[in-house]
Amino acid sequence: MALNILVAGGAGFVGSHLCDALLAQGHRVVCIDSFLTGSRQNLRPLRNHPGFTLIEQDICDPVQIDLPLDRVYNLACAASPPRYQADPVHTMMTCISGTGNLMRLAAQHGARFLQASTSEVYGDPERHPQSEDYWGNVNCTGPRACYDEGKRAAETLCFDWLRAGKGDVRVARIFNTYGPRMQPDDGRIVSNFLVQALRGDPLTVYGRGAQTRSFCFVSDLVAGLIALMEIDQNPGTPINLGNPGEFTVIELAKMVQEMIPTRSRIVYRPLPTDDPQRRRPDITRAKTILGWEPKVPLAEGLQETAAWFALTLGLDVPSRSGALVRA
Ligand SMILES: NC(=O)c1ccc[n+]([C@@H]2O[C@H](COP(=O)([O-])OP(=O)(O)OC[C@H]3O[C@@H](n4cnc5c(N)ncnc54)[C@H](O)[C@@H]3O)[C@@H](O)[C@H]2O)c1
Repeated sequence: MALNILVAGGAGFVGSHLCDALLAQGHRVVCIDSFLTGSRQNLRPLRNHPGFTLIEQDICDPVQIDLPLDRVYNLACAASPPRYQADPVHTMMTCISGTGNLMRLAAQHGARFLQASTSEVYGDPERHPQSEDYWGNVNCTGPRACYDEGKRAAETLCFDWLRAGKGDVRVARIFNTYGPRMQPDDGRIVSNFLVQALRGDPLTVYGRGAQTRSFCFVSDLVAGLIALMEIDQNPGTPINLGNPGEFTVIELAKMVQEMIPTRSRIVYRPLPTDDPQRRRPDITRAKTILGWEPKVPLAEGLQETAAWFALTLGLDVPSRSGALVRA
């Protein structure tokens, strides 16, 4: 059955892939985005799609949609640290007022609501791997707090709303996700390394590079978000969505160096404040409740992402054999 679906943040990296996937399934999609960190380029393939509508708006302002809605996905929030720290008060208000506005909208329409939360709610975790029943270790006054605490407060709103019987609200805790359409300069680790290697610049490692991360390819994440939204029974708990493969930052840098033959060496810079030391999702709930787990291996996803950056930036494209081909 074709549904009417609102995607807030649909011009962003993950949101634009979600819009693509929902339209490909035959649904109608309304995208709301302020273009704070998203881009019109991401929506270019959808511009003339008859099922796609774009509304340029900040979700901190009251949201009124006169079209019918069955589902509301809230992905609107800057996700990379330099971007969400550029205007921390706005980041916090996006998480709180913006999420509240969209939950009210979903309730008015009787639509299901899905909140894109984050592994950052676990902060610098003292438990490893992170399962959903871990409450986290977050510095509420540090420079990352506008995002980490904003997303935690948004989760509180979601579960208060659910307990009060005001709507069918679901929460995905998303771990590091990468893929085509990341912004080349957004300061996230995968985009940093790939763009630096393609340009022949040094790869910047913060600290000694022993901190670990898990990397989920964007198509896997989108499948998980849709599975969580579409499961009939509301799970009533947050669900981790991420790839449980765990890599140190140095391991990732070396994979990139091997994949993109480059002059790039590794340079070390001081660790940013409150940088988490270990990250790996426990995805038992996603597997058992949603029947979901990621499929794309890191090497394959990195290759596809590198090829996309190369084409977008007009640089050399690494081929599967490792040879370089002019974009
Ligand atoms: N990509 C990841 O690794 C990751 C990890 C954890 C959580 N998430 C969450 O997933 C969501 C999408 O992340 P992304 O990587 O696509 O980020 P992104 O920055 O590429 O996309 C966010 C989108 O939201 C829009 N936006 C931001 N604030 C807005 C506001 N106040 N009103 C309207 N639009 C607004 C931006 O313009 C952008 O298009 C975010 O909520 C993020 O917190 C992402």
